[in-house]
Amino acid sequence: MTNTIDLAVIPGDGIGPEVIAEAVKVLKKATQNEDVRLVLSEYRLGAEHWLATGETLSDGTLAELRRHDAILFGAVGAAPGDTRIPSGLIEREMLLKLRFAMDHYVNLRPSKSYAGVPSPLADPGTIDFIVVREGTEGPYVGNGGALRVGTPHEIATEVSVNTAHGVERVVRDAFRRAADRPRRKVTLVHKHNVLVHAGHLWRRTVEAIAAEYPQVSHDYLHIDAATIFMTTDPARFDVIVTDNLFGDILTDLAGAVSGGIGLAASGNLNMDRTAPSMFEPVHGSAPDIAGQQKADPTAAILSAAMLLEHVGLPAAARRIEAAVEADIAARPQFSGTRTTSQVGDAIAAGVS
Ligand code: NAI
Ligand code: MG
Repeated sequence: MTNTIDLAVIPGDGIGPEVIAEAVKVLKKATQNEDVRLVLSEYRLGAEHWLATGETLSDGTLAELRRHDAILFGAVGAAPGDTRIPSGLIEREMLLKLRFAMDHYVNLRPSKSYAGVPSPLADPGTIDFIVVREGTEGPYVGNGGALRVGTPHEIATEVSVNTAHGVERVVRDAFRRAADRPRRKVTLVHKHNVLVHAGHLWRRTVEAIAAEYPQVSHDYLHIDAATIFMTTDPARFDVIVTDNLFGDILTDLAGAVSGGIGLAASGNLNMDRTAPSMFEPVHGSAPDIAGQQKADPTAAILSAAMLLEHVGLPAAARRIEAAVEADIAARPQFSGTRTTSQVGDAIAAGVS
């Protein structure tokens, strides 16, 4: 029986539509010989959509999105300095709202070194790790407030929320992933020497779950030390588990050391599958190069591969990854002269 995979596609702003067009091209190629029917529904959301309609993300759109099997997302956001859009509006009212509403509690960001991709590090070694970043708690939940704003006595709080339930489910996910990887190692990154309350909840949770996974080793790094090791010896990492804020920062660094923003893919996962998971390149809408066919679609294409893995088509995901790897190895000969769509064509053609 042919399965239907029903996807919502949100191209968004700037280079979003350009890179998503290529991801869709490759998705179609990778699934053409599988026993599946791909159904794609496009949603217009983002800064341009807000300017045109006033909608950030309505409850109606949210309900429609919920019915899909997964979401492929480009990027949203206006150019910095665009005064027509209140700063942070789209990030908070659209992107964060989506991640919270869909309970995307695992933000998964793989980092890998590819042959042919220069690293800013002189001697990075072989990078192959994943960051499992908590996606629904921490300091990003909007738990704070301000008093006496604009006066010398202004008070501002931004309180990090960490629940036993929230920490446990993401730590468990990290151990499960580590158990399936060759090196089977989890590194908790936090700052439990000063953030003692949240830090000790994370530490105790890791210890409790580690006991269930005797085949997986685990260690711990403070966030500041983790940034040192990520630049001096990124090859030491296998699976990193960390909170929302530390994960946000560490994954940008991870992207930088392992080949740059054009390659960094991510998944916002609801592993209980009570709502669709969402897959997106880590980069933003890149207004500086938008509309010029200069964007590298690889991060969006690798995000599409993660999507296929999540919806139960791991073989198709592997075929995309292999095609990306081959294309990246061939890149020096093109020296950056290909358009976004030519890169997409080449990767699609390379999918076996
Ligand atoms: P950005 O990631 O859009 O761009 C940073 C730099 O990287 C730019 O020079 C850009 O040209 C380059 N770049 C990004 N993606 C690229 C690609 N695929 N190929 C080649 N070069 C690429 O970050 P920026 O400039 O800070 O933000 C621009 C807008 O994107 C803002 O409105 C921001 O809020 C939004 N944004 C949205 C995200 C999302 O939708 N998840 C994530 C990050 C930023
Ligand atoms: Mg970030």
